[in-house]
Amino acid sequence: MNTPLPGCLANLFAICVTAACLTAGFGVARATAAQEKAADDSAQKIADGDKLFHARCGYCHLAGGTGTYMLGKRLGKDRALLEARTDLTVEYIKKITRVGINSMPPHNRIELPDNELDLIAIYLTRPASARQPKPPTGAGHE
Ligand code: HEC
Repeated sequence: MNTPLPGCLANLFAICVTAACLTAGFGVARATAAQEKAADDSAQKIADGDKLFHARCGYCHLAGGTGTYMLGKRLGKDRALLEARTDLTVEYIKKITRVGINSMPPHNRIELPDNELDLIAIYLTRPASARQPKPPTGAGHE
C-alpha cells in the first residue's frame, strides 16, 4: 500500500523536471537567437552611430570639449567622456539631446533627424563586446 505513492510522486517529479528543462531550454535558444540577430543588426548601426557622434557631438564631447569638461566637473572624471560611459540609456541620451541640459543646447529634428539620433544612442550604449579592447598593460610580465 506504500509503494504506489512514492512511484507516483517520482513520476510527477520527473514530468516537472522535464517540463522545466524544456521551458528553460527553449528560453535559452530564443534568447541566443535574439542576441545574434541584435548583434548582426547593430554592428553596422554602431559604426554609423560612431561617425555621427564624432560629427555631431564630438565638437563638445570628445577630449577637451566643453561637454567633457562640464560633465567631469559635475559627475566626476570617470563619467566625463560620453563615449566611454556604460551607464547611459538610449532614452536618456535621446531626451537630453532633444531638450538640452545646462549649457548643452537642445538639438531639434531639423538639425538632427530621429534616425541619426537613434544611431548615436545605439553607439553610446553599445555592448562591451563592441568597445575597443583595453590597451595591453604589461601586467603578468612583471
Ligand atoms: C555645444 C556643445 C555640445 C554639443 C554639440 C553636444 N553637447 Fe551634450 N553636453 C554638453 C554639455 C556642456 C553637457 C553637460 C551639461 C552639464 O552637465 O552642465 C552635455 C551633456 C550631455 C549629456 C548628459 C550626460 C549626463 O550624464 O547627464 C548627454 C547624454 C549628452 N550631452 C549627449 C549629447 C549628444 C548625443 C550630442 C550630439 C547629438 C551632444 N550631447 C552634443 C555640450 C554639448
